[in-house]
Amino acid sequence: MTAYTARAHTNIALLKYWGKADQELIIPTTSSVSLTLNEFYTDTTVEFIPDLPDDEIVLDGKLLSGSSNQKVIHVLNLVRTKANITTKAKVISTNHVPTSAGLASSASAFAALAGAASKAAGLNLTRSELSMLARRGSGSASRSIFGGFAIWNRGTNDRDSFAHPIDEDVHWPIQLLTVIVNDQPKEINSRVGMQSVVATDPFYQAWVDHANAQVPAMLTAIENHDFQKIGQLAEANALQMHAQNLMATPAFSYLTDTSWIIIRLVQRLRQQGLSVYATMDAGPNVKIISMPADTAKILVALKEQLPNVKTTVATPGPGLEIIKGHH
Ligand code: PMV
Repeated sequence: MTAYTARAHTNIALLKYWGKADQELIIPTTSSVSLTLNEFYTDTTVEFIPDLPDDEIVLDGKLLSGSSNQKVIHVLNLVRTKANITTKAKVISTNHVPTSAGLASSASAFAALAGAASKAAGLNLTRSELSMLARRGSGSASRSIFGGFAIWNRGTNDRDSFAHPIDEDVHWPIQLLTVIVNDQPKEINSRVGMQSVVATDPFYQAWVDHANAQVPAMLTAIENHDFQKIGQLAEANALQMHAQNLMATPAFSYLTDTSWIIIRLVQRLRQQGLSVYATMDAGPNVKIISMPADTAKILVALKEQLPNVKTTVATPGPGLEIIKGHH
């Protein structure tokens, strides 16, 4: 059978997905809105090979084993069921999302896997179907099928919970300046963190209602290229998500002292007239939603307070591409 290679870029949520209504199908409690990034991506090659005894998954040159490849095999199984085959696959995946960039790679990884595996199995899925498939690996991956701004409509079942493009070709100045915080707290992965919040946060339903109400406002802001409104909504949504983690039992937080130094710095720069906003995910890094013209000023302010901090700048990027298919 033919091997196919797909490339998908990572994305950052401006309105977050933080909780599942259905854990098996990965149906979220809220719709989420994201920006796909140009600089960070995953390339994945899949080939279904007759007589291969087991799926073989190589990530960044290392053969995966045990539980770490269960999510990949889960997606391969969904593809095999759709294609009506039982053949095992060889998967070779390379992340161009350096750990030092402080961004998660699961979104780009599962979007690329959905693209390459479905093609290699002889399926020609629509982008909506690819988004549904990527969602089953990792919720945020549903949005990486599309470039630029995308929305994952929460839906209620396997067939109506998928992402849609909002504006794939972003030609106006918006960037994410990531500040890498090294004082990593004890890792609580997103699955465990959000599940704990859903199960124990007494204010969770209020958060869900409020977060869902932020969606139409964000869509209007994106349509109007209203940078300030996008930033205000994104920062509020991120802080509200992180507040839920403190409401959980036991309470937890991804944000460290350094994260807060950066968040306060962003607020101070704003008081000085700069259009900058902060967003944070399941880790201590802070992404500063900003405009390229302000990069130098932001970096000067950051280095003054945190001289050794590392930063990366990411701009809007494209959706899933099949970059190679051969016999
Ligand atoms: O889909 P996951 O398991 O990578 O969870 C993503 C959770 C957040 O990054 C915090 C928010 C989001 O919508 O991407």
